Amino acid sequence: MKLTPRLQGIADFVQIGSNIGDIGTDHGYIPVYLIREKICPNVIATDINPGPLQSAKKYIEKCGLTDRIETRLGSGLEPIKPKEVDTAIIAGMGGHLIIDILRENLNITRSISKFVLQPMVASDELRRFIYENQMKIEDEKLVREKDKMYEIFTVIHGREEIKNPIHFEIGKRLIENKDELLGEFILKKLKEVEKILRILNKSQSKEALQRYETLQERYNNLMEVLKKL
Ligand SMILES: C[S@@+](CC[C@H](N)C(=O)[O-])C[C@H]1O[C@@H](n2cnc3c(N)ncnc32)[C@H](O)[C@@H]1O
Repeated sequence: MKLTPRLQGIADFVQIGSNIGDIGTDHGYIPVYLIREKICPNVIATDINPGPLQSAKKYIEKCGLTDRIETRLGSGLEPIKPKEVDTAIIAGMGGHLIIDILRENLNITRSISKFVLQPMVASDELRRFIYENQMKIEDEKLVREKDKMYEIFTVIHGREEIKNPIHFEIGKRLIENKDELLGEFILKKLKEVEKILRILNKSQSKEALQRYETLQERYNNLMEVLKKL
């Protein structure tokens, strides 16, 4: 089975031989791909909801991989025992939910050496959480699927100071790697900010003015990054 570009981008960040936990597996496509492609010996696939876990189970059975992929019901990292996996994939969820998952079972989070994260929204807040909690982004890329762009990053333990807050919104590694989609990604953001600035410009309220100034600063910072590409 061919993975979609987003799922392929996630799978490509998994190191050969890793023991994987796919948290919030849903369909189970990533675990099956990792086993079939001989990237991982075993995978633990979890989900908080019985319905999605059942569909993953069915797919794993159909592929004849029940001896290699174990399915477990539970929230976040709860179904994972310390040191059981070295890499956890948490993908296709909001950034706030990913933060909750990383925060809720800190002893498990600390025992996992690498995370492959793909937030659907609030990636800036997720990056901030990572840098403020003795973790850092090791690598990052953008993936296009249909008309959407997705941010995918790998996270390891360690400290890194982020001096320019724009790097919470635009990952530092994307800039360093000269990601081929980065220019387009920033332009998209600039367009969205411009649209809100135009609306705010029509209002005279104090709140609107404050919001305008904050957004104008964000716009300028995004422009700075774009100019340096
Ligand atoms: C949109 S799907 C993403 C599936 C897959 N990871 C992907 O990237 O395509 C989100 C899945 O996460 C599960 N989920 C939501 N909150 C969760 C939590 N706290 N712990 C584990 N799974 C969760 C949902 O039941 C759902 O199956």
